[in-house]
Amino acid sequence: MNDMKKLPKILTFDATPSSAFIRPAPTPQHEIHSRTQSFSVNYEYRVVFTRDLFSPANASLREALEVSEHSRRQRCLVFIDADVLKQRGTLGYEIARYFREEVPGVELACAPLAIEGGEAAKAGLSRLEQIYHRILEHGIDRHSYVLAIGGGAVLDAVGMAAATAHRGIRHIRIPTTVLSQNDSGVGVKTAVNFAGSKNFAGCFAPPWAVLNDFDFLATLPPPVRRSGLSEAVKVALIRDRDFFLWIEANAAELKRFEPEAEEYMIRRSAELHMTQIAHGGDPFERGSARPLDFGHWSAHKLETFTQYCVSHGDAVAMGIALDARYSVLTGLLAPGEESRIVSVLNSLGLPLWHPGLARHSKNGNLELLRGLEEFREHLGGKLTITLLCALGKGIEINEMRPDLVADAIGWLKRQAHAYSLASEQGQGQVPGQPDCIDRGWA
Ligand SMILES: NC(=O)c1ccc[n+]([C@@H]2O[C@H](COP(=O)([O-])OP(=O)(O)OC[C@H]3O[C@@H](n4cnc5c(N)ncnc54)[C@H](O)[C@@H]3O)[C@@H](O)[C@H]2O)c1
Ligand SMILES: [Zn+2]
Repeated sequence: MNDMKKLPKILTFDATPSSAFIRPAPTPQHEIHSRTQSFSVNYEYRVVFTRDLFSPANASLREALEVSEHSRRQRCLVFIDADVLKQRGTLGYEIARYFREEVPGVELACAPLAIEGGEAAKAGLSRLEQIYHRILEHGIDRHSYVLAIGGGAVLDAVGMAAATAHRGIRHIRIPTTVLSQNDSGVGVKTAVNFAGSKNFAGCFAPPWAVLNDFDFLATLPPPVRRSGLSEAVKVALIRDRDFFLWIEANAAELKRFEPEAEEYMIRRSAELHMTQIAHGGDPFERGSARPLDFGHWSAHKLETFTQYCVSHGDAVAMGIALDARYSVLTGLLAPGEESRIVSVLNSLGLPLWHPGLARHSKNGNLELLRGLEEFREHLGGKLTITLLCALGKGIEINEMRPDLVADAIGWLKRQAHAYSLASEQGQGQVPGQPDCIDRGWA
């Protein structure tokens, strides 16, 4: 009886609508009027491959800076990756001279500004804010230019700021790494990382022009220079068998950074990326497929796991190897082709293994699989992963089996170990492990 008293009082209400809640019958003024808005915007931008970009004889930049009929003189704000500037102390003067003597119609807003390179450039919104402040401070308007010289990370951060300040400022990219010349710099995406999520805050924004100067590559640390090769392998595997065979045949030259091989690899890879964007039918990725992200679902996760200690290019190499093996395990790709792919990655000096790939959470789950969930969210809810059905041919699937992913990880670990042993015995090459990790064979 006492218990009964403690029960909360049940409130009752009358479910019959009072006259005040009865909706009036639709009258003509409630009819819905709609029309479809439709227009298309054509994007066109020049992608140049050159050397000695800031010499007076080189017209590439002069031609890219279109002097418009503008009452005010156009201005240009230049951001340079700090590591590039460190390697080439005269760059600021070269740029100032070029603008003064070669493009008098465009004024340099101030001396080029250094910006910390690598993933730090994309670390959250505070970096972005610093770039916005500079754009604002120097009165850069929509007919002016924001020029970025640097690796993929600096291009992503400055590109994102340029795409959103004043709702879009003309943005010229001057990529200085292999990866940014053969892949990221020629594309239409920009982004920064946010709250631990890679490329969370970003947008699609085609550049005004892309000027690739091969001379910049000479100062790259070898592991950074090599890591960009993985994006060429990626695009060859999904789109161009002949290019993959060419990479396989020229792996030693590419590993040694021989200019002829390196330049062809960059041009062909950039061309394939550009063709996919222009003719793949979905440049702004409105659908759920992202073929250029083959090998990337695990790569993005590995990058964030390791606080970007594993570079994007290296993570993509491991992601390619993993998805190639998974393609074989699901019967899509002929057995043996995955070993061939891994052998090419190894010959290029790319890493095949990182212990983070096999990391398990306290409750025993394979943490890498969270990468699939993030990919699904990024794609709008429907998972679409590109795998391989042949060398040079991608295929889309909508589900990945966790047990087979785990099998593929185990296989890759054994492969990497075998290559490492062979190398120690002088029979092969050491996979190019980043300094900051232990190999974790145990
Ligand atoms: N927007 C896209 O479509 C797209 C595509 C692929 C990758 N990305 C992004 O690109 C980034 C990786 O780019 P990355 O591989 O170019 O590396 P990076 O930009 O991280 O640069 C690596 C290091 O090299 C330095 N560096 C750059 N150029 C140099 C030079 N010429 N000489 C000496 N040092 C130099 C940088 O300061 C940095 O320390 C990642 O953030 C990745 O997410 C973007
Ligand atoms: Zn990539």
